[in-house]
Amino acid sequence: MPDSTFDPLVYFENDFVRMSEAKLPILTHALHYGTGVFEGIRGYWSVEDREMYLVRCEEHFRRWKANCRILGIDPKETAAELAHLTADLVRLNHFETDVYIRPLAYMSGNKVGIRPDGAHRFAIIALPFGRYLPADNGLHAGIASWRRVQDNAIPARGKICGAYVNSVLATMEAKANGFDEAILLNEDGHVAEGASCNLFIVRDGLLMTPPPQDNILEGLTRATVMELARHEMGLRVVERSLDRTELYMAEEAFFTGTAVELAPITRVDHRDIGDGKVGPLATRLQKLYSDATHGRLAAYRHWLLPVYLPVLAALQK
Ligand SMILES: Cc1ncc(COP(=O)(O)O)c(C=O)c1O
Repeated sequence: MPDSTFDPLVYFENDFVRMSEAKLPILTHALHYGTGVFEGIRGYWSVEDREMYLVRCEEHFRRWKANCRILGIDPKETAAELAHLTADLVRLNHFETDVYIRPLAYMSGNKVGIRPDGAHRFAIIALPFGRYLPADNGLHAGIASWRRVQDNAIPARGKICGAYVNSVLATMEAKANGFDEAILLNEDGHVAEGASCNLFIVRDGLLMTPPPQDNILEGLTRATVMELARHEMGLRVVERSLDRTELYMAEEAFFTGTAVELAPITRVDHRDIGDGKVGPLATRLQKLYSDATHGRLAAYRHWLLPVYLPVLAALQK
């Protein structure tokens, strides 16, 4: 994690300023009522290419703008403009290490009362970032007693700040019970997802993951992994509701997410998954995911936005 002297540039109030100067008034609507929408984007530094690759950056911003619409927030910049703004931010910070990027749109009204006044702003923060979960030897996940938020209460697909209280409560419980990550069931009792990630299981060689209507976040890593599994490994991938007991009976299980990447699960609720070791499909997919996101697979380069080389090339013309 950055030390206390670390003070990168962030995009805040239409300008690049030092993080220590990016401050909000105490009455900001989003702070009181959770009325923000955020994203999480990774950038991987490729030592071989001496390049930073932002992963599915424009798609993240397309999702972010769509999610913002749920709250009636409408940033005027296009997803492509926002992706290039993010590349500028990373370049201005001269990062040559893996980074995590946090765009945040928020209702910026500055008075007491839940009625929005239409004011909104956004910020983008980029930080050096390593592993999010300790997944090298597999994770021990626990089913949370908290249920996943429902679409007709607070949409889980929205990446809405206030909805993350649900994830925080489940994470606090998981930590207190000695688990690495929580798994939330939805109100129907079906498996939804992890507190910060989507979930897959393998049964009889079939890859399965809960569908969007089971109150999951429609993860981009989930989509990436489904595509790699189908096209690079010829696996059948099925989106269907999963029962809790199917987790216990699975041959393999893993989480996916921008922060967690592909993180194998080897135990759930004190029961081994399969033989309790990281499984072969998870291992293969983990490598494919890493290769695709580091620019090592030509077929998936279109997922990556290079940060430094296009600018250098333009300067040399
Ligand atoms: C609750 C939740 N589910 C799933 C994900 C994974 O989504 P993505 O792969 O788009 O990062 C996230 C990511 O932050 C999340 O917060």
